[in-house]
Amino acid sequence: MEEQKSVRPLAPGDLLDGGGLDPQDWDRMRKLGHRMVDDLVTWWSSLDDRPAWQPIPGAVLERLASSVPEQPTPPEQVYEEFRRDILPYPTGNSHPTFFSHVIGTGTPLGAFSDLLAAGLNCNVFGGHQAACHVERQVIAWLASILGLPLEAGGLILSGGSMANIVALAVALRDRTDFDVRRQGLHSAKLRPRLYCSSETHNCLDKGADLLGLGSESVRRLPVDETFRLAPETLEAAIVQDRAAGWQPFCVVGNAVTVGTGAIDPLGALADVCKRHGLWLHVDGAIGAVGVLSPTLAPALVGLERADSIAFDLHKWLYVPYEAGCLLVRDVETERKAFSNATAYLSVLDAGLSSGDAWPNQLGPELSRGFKALKVWMSIKEHGVSGYRRAIETNVLQARHLGQLIEGQPALELLAPVSANIVCYRFVSKGLGGPELDTLNRRIVEELHLRGLAVPSHTFVRGHFAIRVAITNHRTRQSHIESLVAASVAIGEELLAEMRHPSEGV
Ligand SMILES: Cc1ncc(COP(=O)(O)O)c(C=O)c1O
Repeated sequence: MEEQKSVRPLAPGDLLDGGGLDPQDWDRMRKLGHRMVDDLVTWWSSLDDRPAWQPIPGAVLERLASSVPEQPTPPEQVYEEFRRDILPYPTGNSHPTFFSHVIGTGTPLGAFSDLLAAGLNCNVFGGHQAACHVERQVIAWLASILGLPLEAGGLILSGGSMANIVALAVALRDRTDFDVRRQGLHSAKLRPRLYCSSETHNCLDKGADLLGLGSESVRRLPVDETFRLAPETLEAAIVQDRAAGWQPFCVVGNAVTVGTGAIDPLGALADVCKRHGLWLHVDGAIGAVGVLSPTLAPALVGLERADSIAFDLHKWLYVPYEAGCLLVRDVETERKAFSNATAYLSVLDAGLSSGDAWPNQLGPELSRGFKALKVWMSIKEHGVSGYRRAIETNVLQARHLGQLIEGQPALELLAPVSANIVCYRFVSKGLGGPELDTLNRRIVEELHLRGLAVPSHTFVRGHFAIRVAITNHRTRQSHIESLVAASVAIGEELLAEMRHPSEGV
């Protein structure tokens, strides 16, 4: 045997013990931890007295761009830096008047669960550990809430984007006539295609991109006047594509679109999928859990017929970031799409490496945090009834906002209020499209800068819209009413400024 080059032999004094990162003084760390919890509780309980959002001062930005520290800093000082430079400048989504994008509020117990999950530092890849059973239980609870059968399974993932992308992978592997896992896409004789409405979230395009399908394989179809995909439009496109040599494999229905909050007619889409043998995936990132709202549930009938559903828990289940979920009607299709054998991950009869249904076999991730814990603790804390009340409240608040806008001559509702999203703009006689767009953009900016409320914006049929998405369990009726009043007051103020620029405001 060839002599191996030896490494330097260890010498006395070599560092074999000194690498520990635990605190020297556990009581000091305990005290700091208690202080963090106290400060957080104070912060949560006084949110309404603070601005909904505020810009980050230049000095803070400079500090946040400083170079990597070589020397250690005492943990108390690190925490002080957090209090000074980070705590005052969050997204704002814990605040009762935060309505931007679709970003949920989070709850105190949800946050503490994340602390516990991080403390335990479980890796939920699989194996014989409680975390796997907690995740499986959460998946079963969520499947039962959405009306999926017992054989359904799935995963807790980082969010709706990942859940949608993983769903597309399952659909592609299950509903195409070539072996995509072994032979790859280039073995397809007919190019696979999926269908969705023009209003569908762009994470589906990212998914098609990642899967190597290409953007042409996503056929975005026009919507009706209520921003919904009509089944006739869908069916005509499938028939046309088949004749043109495509291989249709999947339809993505929307349970609340991100732009205007529309809900596709899911039952009718399920009928089309059944007739054509296509996989029905529902992007319910926002609205799947809307089945809990008695007001919204009728519009979501058909969701329970989906082959897969992607939805977020950090949106309308108010769980702290991150937590999304993919449910697959027949979990075996998901397993077939992802499972593979590796020596070091093989299952033993006992010990940590035992147990069945390892979650890493259901998706692309191996190492996985214990995100299911905050969902488990939150659902236990509030019960389904608590969520039913909170979600229904948001639905009714959106309707109330829609009605207030319709009753206010200075405001115009730009889309029907289908769920929890409301799009509107300030209007004034004599102002044309581009001026109105500028004015409304400035209203959004001023609402943020003054810390009054945080709506976001979009374009509805070419018009700049102030967009309010309510996934906020802290919002009360008075917050909705103040938003309307502030939109009008700021609109009038800016209008006066536009008309008499020299006088200022
Ligand atoms: C309809 C819809 N689908 C998917 C997503 C993506 O979800 P996430 O941001 O959790 O990745 C969003 C995000 O807002 C969404 O509104």
